[in-house]
Order: sequence, then C-alpha cells, then structure tokens
Amino acid sequence: MQQLTLTQPDDWHLHVRTGELLKTVINHTARQFARAIIMPNLQPPVTNVSQALSYQQEIHQATSGEYNFTPLMVLYLTNTTTIEDVQQAAASSAVHAFKLYPAGATTNSDQGVTDLDAVFPVFAAMEELNLPLLIHGEVTNPEIDIFDRERIFIEQKLSVIHQHFPQLRIVLEHVTTQEAVQFVTQAPDNISATITPQHLMYNRNTMLVGGIKPHYYCLPILKRETHREALIEAATSGSPKFFLGTDSAPHLTHLKENSCGCAGCYSAYAAIELYAEVFDQAGALDKLEGFASFYGADFYQLKRNTRKITLEKTSWEVPEFYSVADKSRLTPLKAGETLHWKLQA
Ligand code: NCD
Ligand code: ZN
Repeated sequence: MQQLTLTQPDDWHLHVRTGELLKTVINHTARQFARAIIMPNLQPPVTNVSQALSYQQEIHQATSGEYNFTPLMVLYLTNTTTIEDVQQAAASSAVHAFKLYPAGATTNSDQGVTDLDAVFPVFAAMEELNLPLLIHGEVTNPEIDIFDRERIFIEQKLSVIHQHFPQLRIVLEHVTTQEAVQFVTQAPDNISATITPQHLMYNRNTMLVGGIKPHYYCLPILKRETHREALIEAATSGSPKFFLGTDSAPHLTHLKENSCGCAGCYSAYAAIELYAEVFDQAGALDKLEGFASFYGADFYQLKRNTRKITLEKTSWEVPEFYSVADKSRLTPLKAGETLHWKLQA
C-alpha cells in the first residue's frame, strides 16, 4: 500500500465555535494537526486578550487528553480596537494575530471594520510590534458582484494597506482567485495566503449546476474553473507564500439546508486527507509537506513541528453527518463520498 509520511501539519485558518459544536469538531482537528489558528468570529467576537485566554481555555477543555494540540488565538479587529489592545496582544504568548473582517463580509462580521482609514493607527502598531494581520479580502459594497468582491478588495484595499505599511505581515486568507495568487506571488515575503480544500477541489458549477447545493456555499464564494486552476498551481508550486488553512466553518445541517443558508464548509473531519487527495491528483504529493507543515510555521515565526504522521492510500467513506449533542447534525464536505487517503491512527 502506498504511504506518505509527513511532518505533522498545522491548520492556519480554522473556526471551531463554542459549546457543543466545539466539542464535536475540535477532536477532528486535534487528531491531525499540532496547532491551529483559531478564528475569533464568535458572538460576541473575541476582541481582547482576556477573552482570547478564556476561549483558549474552553478549547483545551473540549480537547481529548490523547492529543497534544495547541490553539493559536487571534483577536477580531473592530472600529474600537486600540493601540493598547495591540500592545497587549503582542505581549501575550497566546495571541498570534489580528483578523480584519470588513463589516458585513461574512458570518459574524457585523462588528467588523467599517472604515479602513480609521484603523490605520492600529495597523501601524501591528507593523511596529510584528503582529500579523489576517484579512478576509472581500469588499462589501452592495453594488459589487459577489464573484468580483475579492479581486476588487485587492485592487482597492489590500494594495493600499500594503503601500502604507510595507513591513506589516499580512495573510490574505482563503484566496479564491487568479488575481489573489498573482498579487501574493509578486509581493514581498511579508505577504502570504492560505488556501482551503474546497477552493482547490471545486468551482462554482459544483455548487450551482443541477440544483443549489448549500454544503458548497462558503465565503469567499467558489469561482470559475480558471481560478481553481490558478489555486492548484499556487498550492503545489513549492512557494512558501501559500500554505494550508482549511477555513473549516461548521454550521448545523438545518442552518445550511435553509432558504437563507449559512456560509461555510465543514472540512476539519478529514482536512489533511482532502489536501492529500488534491495534491495526489495534481501529481504533487512531494509538495504537500511544505504547504501543510512548514511554510505556515515559518511565516508565523514559530518552530516547525517534529512529530510525524503517516497517510495511507486506502478508500473510506465519509459519514452522512456527525452528531452534535446527540440531537443536531453537522454535514461534512463530501458527505457520503469516498476519500482515497486515510490518516493512520
Ligand atoms: C466562515 C464562518 O462560518 O465563520 N464562513 C465561511 O464561509 N468561510 C467565515 C469566513 O471565514 O468567512
Ligand atoms: Zn474563515
């Protein structure tokens, strides 16, 4: 049987929620990854160090003792984030970044930033204190087509942030377009990007042809095939600017299969296996370890992991759902389908 041994990977973009949903999803991640960057878009959002510490505690308590997993915390940038908040974050070993959600861009972003210029002093502090800025890169103007929102954000906002703060370390999260790949590739080393499994596997036809398939609906939305191809090329290029970030974003099944369905794909149950499938199909399994286990740690200026994991090429069936607190359901990406790589226990 074909096997693949890798340095243990990390997930550089993950939503784990709280309460019962957290208890269901966290061990799926901890089974595979040593660390994960935990998104702060709770209700209310995680905006300061003390909230981040209590959230980190809740995550620890929900994680099975058999895993050695470290949640890396992130603070949610709002219109009222202060320079003092940045200083406290920089002084905390638990907090690793700030996340910029343009207000209204995605799930739980209504307390995000409404006027970028107003937070420039906060960006200046982050640049000076070497704290990365993680960006949900979409404009929110109602007149802008949803499929253009990432490209226009890059043209109108990201380039301006980068020009004003040339040393600020930025992760353009979950990139979905050729334009994003191009921007990141041409930028200096302090600009990088995460790529999700769904954007590597699917284009918008998967979501829209033959009926609306809500489990493929996430933000930024799936784009046309040419963009997917650009993402595959970036992820498998061996460039350290592109690394693994699942954006696994669990929502209960009934909230996705709904007349106004929530945005987010649940991929954490098999994240490394999904990426292995993508890299295998691209004939680039030799590039998976850099993407999954090295480049993110290097960008965040953290030590690379030393433990190894082994994947086997063997088929297994994805469950139709995972139970949440025995009564609710969580539908995984690729529910009921066959995967071809499996992590050894
Ligand atoms: C995320 C969520 O549900 O929190 N949803 C998504 O579609 N990706 C938010 C986000 O990362 O945009
Ligand atoms: Zn996300």
